[in-house]
Amino acid sequence: MAEAGSAAKRKLGILISGRGSNMASLVEASRAEDCPYEVVLVASDKPAAPGLEWARAHGVPTFAQSPKGMPKAEYEARIDAALREAGVEAIALAGYMRLLSDDFVARWRDRIVNIHPSLLPKYKGLDTHARALAMGDMEAGCTVHIVTEELDGGEILGQASIRIQARDTAETLAERVLVEEHRLYPRVVSEWLNQLPR
Ligand code: GAR
Repeated sequence: MAEAGSAAKRKLGILISGRGSNMASLVEASRAEDCPYEVVLVASDKPAAPGLEWARAHGVPTFAQSPKGMPKAEYEARIDAALREAGVEAIALAGYMRLLSDDFVARWRDRIVNIHPSLLPKYKGLDTHARALAMGDMEAGCTVHIVTEELDGGEILGQASIRIQARDTAETLAERVLVEEHRLYPRVVSEWLNQLPR
């Protein structure tokens, strides 16, 4: 039984396309007693995503739906149905490499967050670390933001940055920023869910 005064955990769904290390960091953080959320579903557009395997091995329900051979609306309706069936209240994108339709975003208005590997508003889209290096930036980092219809354009909830070093390549930068992503995402998702209306 829940203790007097303690609220039920928020039910988080996570969408992934690949490795799922950010998803794993969210799941691991959720195991703390004072974490405000539990991960009730990890869903993927890639049935072979390694992250799905990790989730299953850690007791998290999974759902896979390839978008191949069907209209985008049908694919997203299936993802949406799986999320709702799991009781999901909010969605975290964690390396989900597919654009969500305006319809899907509207159905989950202000209830989807994403982690992006740049210091937004710089470098929306792909190849963020190579672009930061090419521009001669001193800093790289990651951003957690609300998902809107504009790619990587929603309200910024939190950022973390590191100094770029002379010997950095896109790969070493990605590695070092990823460490920051794993710290930032669970903290910001927790803060966000603590104030999200029920
Ligand atoms: C992460 O670096 C994440 O920020 C990035 O993909 C990687 C996924 O790694 N996301 C995007 O580029 C979204 N546009 P992960 O699967 O190990 O979490």
